[in-house]
Amino acid sequence: MYKPQAIIFDLDGVLTDTSEYHYQAWKHLADDEGISFTHEENDAHLRGVGRRESLTYLLKGRAVSATQQTEMMERKNRYYNDLIKQMTPNEIIDGGIQLLQEIRAAGIKTAIASASKNCMIVLELLDLVRYFDGIADGYSVVHGKPAPDVFVYAAGTVRVPVSACLGVEDADAGIEAIKAAGMIALGIGPRERFQQADKVLPTLARQHLQDILD
Ligand code: BG6
Ligand code: MG
Repeated sequence: MYKPQAIIFDLDGVLTDTSEYHYQAWKHLADDEGISFTHEENDAHLRGVGRRESLTYLLKGRAVSATQQTEMMERKNRYYNDLIKQMTPNEIIDGGIQLLQEIRAAGIKTAIASASKNCMIVLELLDLVRYFDGIADGYSVVHGKPAPDVFVYAAGTVRVPVSACLGVEDADAGIEAIKAAGMIALGIGPRERFQQADKVLPTLARQHLQDILD
């Protein structure tokens, strides 16, 4: 069985369903602005995509000043924070803690590679910080996914060579980032979402270490 020295997890949509809250916050902004925006579009274009790139998609070519763009990103972030502030450890995927404990008991390091600047808030609300040896988030790097940087940075936090890391992602841009970082990639979601994943599982819930390494 393949055994990595570190497993690097994306957060939103992998360990918890915050991807739905990101969608709802963007939808709220789109409704404010009279822009049509569906769940399907979110899945196809915004999943795992950074805040600015998400706004650019959402505006669909509308001419909006830099000041207005900043205001819109801040507004979306307020809506998102209003949605997440009630989160509790109940919103960790089923079996998530057991999986993280199993990984560490096997002598494998755990790290987070998230594009989100809200990553630490979510990890704290879920009481997950203590299960990770390293955390890389939206403040760690300049170039977001699909650039490899946040995964490379996360590997550095646990001092494991990228070639010995397994990356876990629910977004295709994230899988591209993992492969560009020279890591093995596990996709979480429907098979057709991913171009380059080495393995795909429909969900990380109720999975054991052996299931993700097989
Ligand atoms: C990713 C989410 O983890 O972070 C995206 O999947 C989000 O939906 C991105 O846009 C940036 O997050 P934030 O919290 O910094 O706006
Ligand atoms: Mg994600």
